[in-house]
Amino acid sequence: MPEILLSSKHLLGIKYITEDDISLIFQTADNFKDVINRPIKKVPSLRDVTIANLFFENSTRTRISFELAEKRLSADVVNFSASSSSVKKGETLLDTVNNILSMKVDMVVIRHPAPGAPAFLAEHIEANIINAGDGTHEHPTQALLDAFSIRAHFDSFVGLRVAIVGDILHSRVALSNIFCLKKLGAEVMVCGPPTLIPKHIEALGVEVSYNIREALEWADVANVLRIQLERQDIKYFPSIREYAKFFGINRDLVESLSSPVIIMHPGPINRGVELSSDVADSDAAIILDQVENGVAVRMAILYLLAAPRSS
Ligand code: CP
Repeated sequence: MPEILLSSKHLLGIKYITEDDISLIFQTADNFKDVINRPIKKVPSLRDVTIANLFFENSTRTRISFELAEKRLSADVVNFSASSSSVKKGETLLDTVNNILSMKVDMVVIRHPAPGAPAFLAEHIEANIINAGDGTHEHPTQALLDAFSIRAHFDSFVGLRVAIVGDILHSRVALSNIFCLKKLGAEVMVCGPPTLIPKHIEALGVEVSYNIREALEWADVANVLRIQLERQDIKYFPSIREYAKFFGINRDLVESLSSPVIIMHPGPINRGVELSSDVADSDAAIILDQVENGVAVRMAILYLLAAPRSS
């Protein structure tokens, strides 16, 4: 069991955790990264702990990464997908979760299209809740694995410049990354078409640019986000082609910069839209490192949250 605990029994968002929590998660993830690179990748840390992965929205990386992390820790795992469940018959979120908890589940990982769904559960049930992405609100484990991946390339976050590029308006990854990077001391710029940058975002302590070259010249790292057409009920830019022309990152642009920039993307990538394939697959990109680190970071979060608390 860990000697130091996180400040909360849930992980609802980066907004609600401290810089010390983030450091503890990273130190613990360093150890688990060693574990998952050993021939025997499994440890007994969460034996007798049962975890339900409740996915009310599509996912590839997050769902598989959590399941692998849980299995590497020897937890018992149940997976729930809304599309094949009684949610389709009108069951409420709370009824669904309470029914699952009646089967003696200790921890719940939830992805849900409604912002605040994980916080709602945390108010009503005893299990530890981990937010795996709630609508356009937060995606804390993504931000933690992103920052953990950046940390491998730099001595310190203090003064590090990270540009978050793309559909900031609809992105839970952007918000969680801003909270995480600012807590760690990095400078953050958001860049995209004016229609996809929330009004007053400067209040979060970030700079804003509407020019991709300017943002990349400024940045040490660019975290490039997907255009979330599924969350866009109106047109925010004239066409995908025009978006790619003005905000897409291609090899010519990357090679013309005065200093190198690390390229990140949380996935799934719209190849040829926000990133050309020759950039996504280049040595400048650490996209698959992010995915690999996601397992170690999620193992750390699960392990730390599962520790018994006095209150
Ligand atoms: N990065 C991310 O959340 O990807 P998935 O939607 O595939 O989980």
